[in-house]
Amino acid sequence: MKTVVITGATSGIGLAAARCLLKKGYRVICLGHNRENCVKAELSLKAEGIGAEVLFFRADLMQQGEVNRVADLLCGYIEKNCEGKLYALINNAGCVRSRYTTTQEGYEQQFALNYLAGFLLTFRLLKFLVRAGGRVIMTGSRSHRGIGVHWKDIMLKDGYNPLTAYKQSKLCGYLFAKALNDRYSQCGLRAYAVDPGLVRTDIGNKQTGTLVNLIWLMRKRHGAEPEVPAETYGFVCEEVSPPAGLCYRDSRECGCGRQVTSKNADALFELSEKLCGIKYPGAGEI
Ligand SMILES: NC(=O)c1ccc[n+]([C@@H]2O[C@H](COP(=O)([O-])OP(=O)(O)OC[C@H]3O[C@@H](n4cnc5c(N)ncnc54)[C@H](OP(=O)(O)O)[C@@H]3O)[C@@H](O)[C@H]2O)c1
Repeated sequence: MKTVVITGATSGIGLAAARCLLKKGYRVICLGHNRENCVKAELSLKAEGIGAEVLFFRADLMQQGEVNRVADLLCGYIEKNCEGKLYALINNAGCVRSRYTTTQEGYEQQFALNYLAGFLLTFRLLKFLVRAGGRVIMTGSRSHRGIGVHWKDIMLKDGYNPLTAYKQSKLCGYLFAKALNDRYSQCGLRAYAVDPGLVRTDIGNKQTGTLVNLIWLMRKRHGAEPEVPAETYGFVCEEVSPPAGLCYRDSRECGCGRQVTSKNADALFELSEKLCGIKYPGAGEI
């Protein structure tokens, strides 16, 4: 049985992707933030009769200490119960903020959760992914287009604009997928970005101010149900034979923004290693 890890799997797109992959026969390890939401999500999958191969771990992935703590648990579990192989890691957990807020490390929260948590978690699970000839899937967004990385102030502290911070965090996810392919394709690892489109979830209604809350309440009415993008994760896991493309939407390959270049991917990769205090191994060292 193939094992998949999904972050942010207690609600919205992540929960729907977990449901889709469980139905396809995967063992799904879900990561959630809040204990109560984890229990609720697990019970709902079990009540549907598809929860036999699901389990939940809880962690505040915004904090690097928490990413490392849960990664230790995942490594132990995968080694013991999954033959040391991880078929897919879906870095999906995400948030929206309406003002400048930071993590314990002092990193801007959207950058820390939407991008950097996935960078660190992938590092920690890399050997299991390579062993399985696996894939890393970043949840992207069309909003990554038309923006560049603010290299001189990546936390966007000066003149903070929450929408710019969100878009940049999503662009970083595409750059990370590209960097992984540039470095590890030869080991059989492949990375992709999935653009879910506009989806009716509560992401803009969690820990946001009145204005963002209101805008999202109106905007999400036009969104698709989470089950729609969930199919694309199923498609990328089942139907795409590596290498294939980088970006997918509606179960089809699609283009990505002009800033998604190897040069930018390399620069971000190096900066992220410093921000996490880690060094990814070379392709021959895993
Ligand atoms: N909705 C859209 O239209 C849309 C469009 C493009 C991209 N996306 C992306 O899709 C992804 C999923 O978002 P969604 O729309 O499905 O929203 P969602 O329902 O709010 O899902 C977000 C998930 O991330 C988890 N999470 C939040 N803070 C966390 C933390 N500190 N540590 C660990 N997990 C945390 C949430 O858990 P709790 O609920 O327990 O906090 C939840 O499971 C995000 O990356 C988002 O940027 C969404």
